[in-house]
Amino acid sequence: MSTKPTKATISFDNNATPIELPMLSGTLGNDVIDIRALGKHGVYTYDPGFMATAACQSNITYIDGEKGLLLHRGYPIEQLAEHCDFLEVSYLLMHGELPNAEQKANFTKIISTHTMLHDQLSNIFRGFRRDAHPMAVMIGVVGSMSAFYFDAMDVYNPQHREISAYRLLAKMPTIAAWSYKYNLGQPFMQPQNKLNYAENFMHMMFATPCEEYTPNPVLAKAFEKILILHADHEQNASTSTVRLVGSSGANPFASISAGIASLWGPAHGGANEATLQMLEEMGDVSRIGEFIKRAKDKTDSFRLMGFGHRVYRSMDPRASIMQKTCYEVLNELGLHDDPIFKLAMELEKIALEDDYFVSKKLYPNVDFYSGIVMRAMGIPNSMFTAIFALARTAGWIAQWSEMNADPEHKIGRPRQLYTGEARREFMPIDKRA
Ligand code: CMC
Repeated sequence: MSTKPTKATISFDNNATPIELPMLSGTLGNDVIDIRALGKHGVYTYDPGFMATAACQSNITYIDGEKGLLLHRGYPIEQLAEHCDFLEVSYLLMHGELPNAEQKANFTKIISTHTMLHDQLSNIFRGFRRDAHPMAVMIGVVGSMSAFYFDAMDVYNPQHREISAYRLLAKMPTIAAWSYKYNLGQPFMQPQNKLNYAENFMHMMFATPCEEYTPNPVLAKAFEKILILHADHEQNASTSTVRLVGSSGANPFASISAGIASLWGPAHGGANEATLQMLEEMGDVSRIGEFIKRAKDKTDSFRLMGFGHRVYRSMDPRASIMQKTCYEVLNELGLHDDPIFKLAMELEKIALEDDYFVSKKLYPNVDFYSGIVMRAMGIPNSMFTAIFALARTAGWIAQWSEMNADPEHKIGRPRQLYTGEARREFMPIDKRA
């Protein structure tokens, strides 16, 4: 029976003394070689994109990409999506345990009574062009919160961290909804604290001062699922960005604003918007072959949006839940024959049978279906990634707090493999070629 290795040895082909490095094991997942001592020996490792490097210890989220497993604090995402609301999941991410009834009631009260923005913040929205992308507005407004809530910004004080985390979680729906309202030219709607988190967001998005608005319960439930499915996802690009920015002691609002910027890219959170654009451009099943051909063409930068994942090598478990939610929403709205949904189903079927996608283990990810659900709910494409950011705030603040509380935490400072000029002497301008 093979036992786990406890150390790894790096040997060199010039007979230099081999370096012994300890192996570390987590509760689940791959063991890691602790390479921290390598610097002392004058060598570093090279790993662009962190393909094989763990940058931190974390006990928040675990993904098994081969099995399509996603756990938050040990609980499978399927169970959380089925039984919890978003604030319960946020509490779990932040505090490590599911709340009991009293803790849940207190947490919900705290969040729902911090939803209002400082009145002066509304002026920041007004500085943007009306056609600004909501993500651009969110990056600016969340960053500017650093100038409003400095009463609790000592990142090494757990109480301060908690207050900032609550403020971010509570105010993010208001910020996201207002970035849309500003775009539309409609008045900002104030939060309604009697509504739950999902309903309140829908109210701020869709209500106007002229009309009563009652959120449809099926859509509010679906929206809650979208939030839960996007709440956290381990050390992805935006979360790693939040950690890296925060590692210098930067304040939480600046750190989360940087996370929003990273999320915006089409390879990450921007994929939900890009997927829908792709489906709209495709327009009809007859063009699926043409798009799949382009996705396989190495000379074409086009990728099938909503497919593939750095970690999942099987179906993204979030995509399966989202697909079910998609049926529920389309049924509720009488849109069973929605052509974009039909097109998505057909594209999924064809791609899943295609040798290229099968051999590279490219499966639909959560963004493949979330855009269709949001579109059916009347949410415009440009808001999809903003909603992802709103949900991911729960994970970002949990990960940011965990990092600040970690005694091993250090400022993030990667090394490089320098490939530029070696030292050379300055040349006066009249002597340059
Ligand atoms: N369409 C066509 N080919 C693809 C795709 C795709 N969507 N995704 C990966 N590949 C190919 C890629 O060309 C490469 O082929 P080869 O080995 O021949 O060079 C191989 O699969 C591996 O790709 P990679 O870029 O090395 O993989 P990665 O782990 O760096 O990238 C990814 C992961 C998500 C950026 C990528 O799959 C992608 O661009 N997908 C489309 C965008 C998308 O849907 N993103 C949402 C991710 S889930 C939401 C989130 O958590 O942010």
